[in-house]
Amino acid sequence: MKERFDFVKGQLNMQETPEDPSVLLDAWLKNAQAKGISEYQAMVVATSDRKNQVSTRVVYLRDIIADGLVFYTNFNSKKGLDIETNCDVAINLFWKELEQQIRIQGAIKKVNPDVSDAYFRERPRESQIGAWASDQSKEIPNRDYLEKQLIRYQKEFDGGPVSRPEHWGGYIVVPHYFEFWQGRKSRLHDRICYSKKKDVWTKRRLAP
Ligand SMILES: Cc1cc2nc3c(=O)[nH]c(=O)nc-3n(C[C@H](O)[C@H](O)[C@H](O)COP(=O)(O)O)c2cc1C
Repeated sequence: MKERFDFVKGQLNMQETPEDPSVLLDAWLKNAQAKGISEYQAMVVATSDRKNQVSTRVVYLRDIIADGLVFYTNFNSKKGLDIETNCDVAINLFWKELEQQIRIQGAIKKVNPDVSDAYFRERPRESQIGAWASDQSKEIPNRDYLEKQLIRYQKEFDGGPVSRPEHWGGYIVVPHYFEFWQGRKSRLHDRICYSKKKDVWTKRRLAP
């Protein structure tokens, strides 16, 4: 645990960063994809419950709609219940190969059901049935129970189209804060953050 790395892959100049952070988010995502970063869409999402206990988990960023980040999940899961009590969430994307981190804070809400329907239709059949079979985040007796649930729903849909369960769909995180972090030499990293007030983004540089 004591290895030390130096960060030398890039830099962030205030003058070269766009006024709109979603432009930079898009550019960084496209770059990560082009560079073949594995799981570049995997992002940590933090939520908190009614006792203010924070929890995190990885989900896949699936789309960006009107500058909001979309992921899909079970609305009755632990995260879904947290979101019902507190719509303030945080996101973290980290790509070690690029020495880049993006931190986002924002408000989360469900996407329009049509958007969830369209995405659900594109999913492989196994995943569609999985959405019915898994009561995400609930305690189950054993693995066998899960596999039986899968068989139950396979029979129920009997080769026909699988409808989207109402408890499964997309959330969109609408950011009001971004931080773009680029690792630099000797721990003098670049950090440019954006805050939104009254629809206007303000940029600042933070000390590493
Ligand atoms: C790489 C990766 C991607 C994942 N993508 C998703 C996802 O898109 N949606 C989802 O519900 N869970 C996804 N998971 C599983 C979640 O991390 C988590 O176990 C699950 O959503 C239950 O979280 P919760 O109990 O906090 O609600 C992913 C896990 C990993 C490791």
